[in-house]
Amino acid sequence: MSSDVVVPNLFSGLGPSVAAAVAVVVVTIVIAGKIFRRDGENGQPYPPLAPASMLDTMNKMQGSDLPWFYLQMATTLGNKYTYRLKLPLRQMFVVTGDPNFARDVLLDPKSTKPDLYRQFEADGIGNIFTRNGEFWHARRKGTAPAFSSSHIKRMNSVAIEIAELWIKNTLLPVMKEGKPFDVAKEMINITLDSICKTAFEYDPTEEEKEQFLKCEELVTTEYISRSLSNPFRQYLGPLLPKRREAMQAAKKNLALAKRIIANYRAMKNPTKGTIVDLIANNKCYATLDEMAVDLIIYLVAGHDTTGYTLAFTLLELARHPEEQKKIRDDLAKRTPDDWSNSKVVQMAIKESMRLYPVSAGGSLRQLGRDFETDDGFVVPRNSNVVAAMILLHRNPTVFEDADKFIPSRWENPTKEMKDAFLIFSAGKQNCIGQALANAELQCIIPMILSQVELEVVEEGSVDCFLTMKPTGAWLKAKPLNGN
Ligand code: HEM
Repeated sequence: MSSDVVVPNLFSGLGPSVAAAVAVVVVTIVIAGKIFRRDGENGQPYPPLAPASMLDTMNKMQGSDLPWFYLQMATTLGNKYTYRLKLPLRQMFVVTGDPNFARDVLLDPKSTKPDLYRQFEADGIGNIFTRNGEFWHARRKGTAPAFSSSHIKRMNSVAIEIAELWIKNTLLPVMKEGKPFDVAKEMINITLDSICKTAFEYDPTEEEKEQFLKCEELVTTEYISRSLSNPFRQYLGPLLPKRREAMQAAKKNLALAKRIIANYRAMKNPTKGTIVDLIANNKCYATLDEMAVDLIIYLVAGHDTTGYTLAFTLLELARHPEEQKKIRDDLAKRTPDDWSNSKVVQMAIKESMRLYPVSAGGSLRQLGRDFETDDGFVVPRNSNVVAAMILLHRNPTVFEDADKFIPSRWENPTKEMKDAFLIFSAGKQNCIGQALANAELQCIIPMILSQVELEVVEEGSVDCFLTMKPTGAWLKAKPLNGN
């Protein structure tokens, strides 16, 4: 790994004196934090250090190829799936793709989300995603009933209606004209429409959706990718043009969330138990702003992860016509209301989630006690540990031909495979929306494949800014059996 990296745009917009001061602080913290030490206090080894310089690591962590960087570090270390990163933090920063260690950390009651998560708070207001303790618990407990089986059924039936309309009004017409479609863009549209309608009873305009998606990208890029790799950005805030732009974008999205809450309050008979209903009536929120930021979390988390998983699954199936055929053969044996129970469909979705975990950046936790890994490494209390889904899911000691799309590997998975599959994370701060995501995926994929055959026109590329996504991937739908 080359270490002669030019300082990336971390200090863009700053004068040379401020940049120099920042550099001094970085060096001081590195020395004070002793992050380059090989062994712990009692002589037990720490996990190995990834062979990338601090600047290179910071650069990669804000780039779109973070998942591939994680994989490259593991390979370069000779297939070591737990290692330290050189970052300007006082605590050790460990990345792991070891299923036992990852699960131990996530399931440990003393593990918490580190303060690093607070850098994601674009408005400086705490929310369900960034906090711990009673603050987090009151919010999680408040919205949990929205994911009861009856609400999942209600929400999923709306998602199905939206997908049916999309097939009729977009997919079939473009097929007749022989035109391709941008799979990620279309799937995101479906999931964004459905979360707005089902969770918030809100019909967003095309303009609102477009603006929200644009602002979301600006916010996640600045507050998540750049901030995580360069903690100093939060202190330099308004001095940085990109930070200023992201702050404006966050304000626009907050205004949208407030419109959604106002719309709910103006309704005569709103549905009971929707996410907006539970947020708007939860006494734990001190202000409207606090409600609005949690609503934004649900709006973001509720559409892009599911939308991009739909897109990756369709893309992989388009690459593998034989897998599409297996699905169609299985669907032919079932009635449409039984399609979501198709094991063949479920295995294809699971395999695409394994290969392309949309939450590729992983689940980050601060340790509440010392840990020892199966490899004999010690990871001290207060360390930051990221359970990196891309490393877990492509760990070659767990998955044979780990980089290949092989849905049938899930027919009889080993215990190790089941343990390594952590797409929704684990423990108390796991994904609250996983049942909804699975229901939508298991209904929409068979609906599309039962009507058209898919082929790839443009492969596009994989990007990762918080969420892993296929960019510029275009598919073409063909009539079934050439009809
Ligand atoms: C394929 C789809 C999805 C995937 C892969 C996914 C993945 C995840 C993961 C890995 C986390 C833990 C993040 C961390 O530890 O930092 C998480 C948290 C969360 N997810 Fe999802 N998610 C999906 C869909 C959804 C949906 C549909 C919703 C809501 C409608 C949702 C709402 C949330 C929320 C609110 C949290 C924070 C929970 C907490 O901290 O208590 N997610 N998700």
